Amino acid sequence: MLAMNYRGPFRIRIDHDKPYPEIKHPNDAIVRVTRSCICGSDLHLYHGLVPDTRVGSTFGHEFTGIVEEVGSSVEKLKTGDHVLVPFNIACGVCSFCRQELYGNCHESNPEATAVGGIFGYSHTAGGYDGGQAEYVRVPYADVGPMIIPDWMDPEDAVLLTDVIPTGYQSAEMGGIQPGDTVIIFGAGPIGIIAAKCSWLFGAGRVVVIDQYDYRLEFVKNYAQCEVRNFRELRDPVVFAKQTTDSLGADVCIDAVGCEAAGNAVETLLGRKIPMQGGSTTALHWAINSVKKGGIVSVVGVYGPIDSLAPVGNIVNKGITIRANQASVKRLLPRLVEHVRSGVLNPKEIITHRLPLEELPEAYHMFSSKLDNCIKTVLIPPKAAS
Ligand SMILES: NC(=O)c1ccc[n+]([C@@H]2O[C@H](COP(=O)([O-])OP(=O)(O)OC[C@H]3O[C@@H](n4cnc5c(N)ncnc54)[C@H](O)[C@@H]3O)[C@@H](O)[C@H]2O)c1
Ligand SMILES: [Zn+2]
Ligand SMILES: [Zn+2]
Repeated sequence: MLAMNYRGPFRIRIDHDKPYPEIKHPNDAIVRVTRSCICGSDLHLYHGLVPDTRVGSTFGHEFTGIVEEVGSSVEKLKTGDHVLVPFNIACGVCSFCRQELYGNCHESNPEATAVGGIFGYSHTAGGYDGGQAEYVRVPYADVGPMIIPDWMDPEDAVLLTDVIPTGYQSAEMGGIQPGDTVIIFGAGPIGIIAAKCSWLFGAGRVVVIDQYDYRLEFVKNYAQCEVRNFRELRDPVVFAKQTTDSLGADVCIDAVGCEAAGNAVETLLGRKIPMQGGSTTALHWAINSVKKGGIVSVVGVYGPIDSLAPVGNIVNKGITIRANQASVKRLLPRLVEHVRSGVLNPKEIITHRLPLEELPEAYHMFSSKLDNCIKTVLIPPKAAS
């Protein structure tokens, strides 16, 4: 089958002869992919920043597909169902899943102490192959996949597997109170949805900071928020203070993660040498821009290796930090309702629709932020709808 093949940092290709996945456990399903996306998290893999990303692995944790085959114990799915598959692989019954911490499932990635299993996200996240392929094996098929309602556009469905829940959860974790000022670092798909969702929690003011004008222009229109290009600011932290009567924002959201730009030393230590698990520039800015007693919500991804953070400011300002991988299954019921009612319009952030065969070019475009790229959907040749 067609599948993405990782060969090393910045080197990926499409293979035509990857063996078809097989049922390995009675609760597995095999899904024929109808759509998959490229996530900002895939860029951390592509750039070689995630440990134990093995040559030959297939990325892709945002996908929809048609159930092709089910294992003998699968009860909720049958051949022919069109499903969206959350990026978290979760058993549904361990103590973490019972708390709805589906991103922290202990069974799907038992050798790790932090994250649970994730499709196509290196052996640190369980070593599962992902959905940038024609077919994919979906473990715990009775737990994660959701049958796509008839009324839902498949392009909305594929964005419910990651981007929409992650952006929503970043606002939720911010504990936004009515009238709060929220500053969001990052105007990628996650920051864009974080901005949109901040209003749902009652924000009074939403400001998004990035370095790309085309993304800032997009989020300004999509989420009706204020925007600032940090390349044009002397210091984003000084800006944050000046624009909030010197106090700082009530809530700051890090929607950037380990590849943050804006500080040469961080870039050197976190991305070039690297001596820590990524550049923490956006995290520093978020911690230093929030008011005393405020909340910093972190959904930007950082690797398992330690990174420096300004802990003195966290303690002395009394900041609460909330962070996690999004718990997609927990959020789906309310997000499906928001899509049905028109409160959220996920597919509007899609800028590119490309055949799966063009995946190497699609990664290059997204990585280098070419052609005003925000979100790319890959369509396998056999996609039925
Ligand atoms: N926690 C989760 O469940 C989860 C899920 C999906 C994505 N993520 C993570 O969220 C982050 C964003 O994902 P995305 O798809 O939007 O990625 P993206 O690469 O499209 O966007 C990141 C944006 O951050 C901007 N940026 C870089 N440095 C910055 C800085 N110092 N201040 C402000 N903006 C800066 C970049 O210009 C870019 O526009 C990534 O780290 C990704 O891994 C987390
Ligand atoms: Zn993702
Ligand atoms: Zn579990």
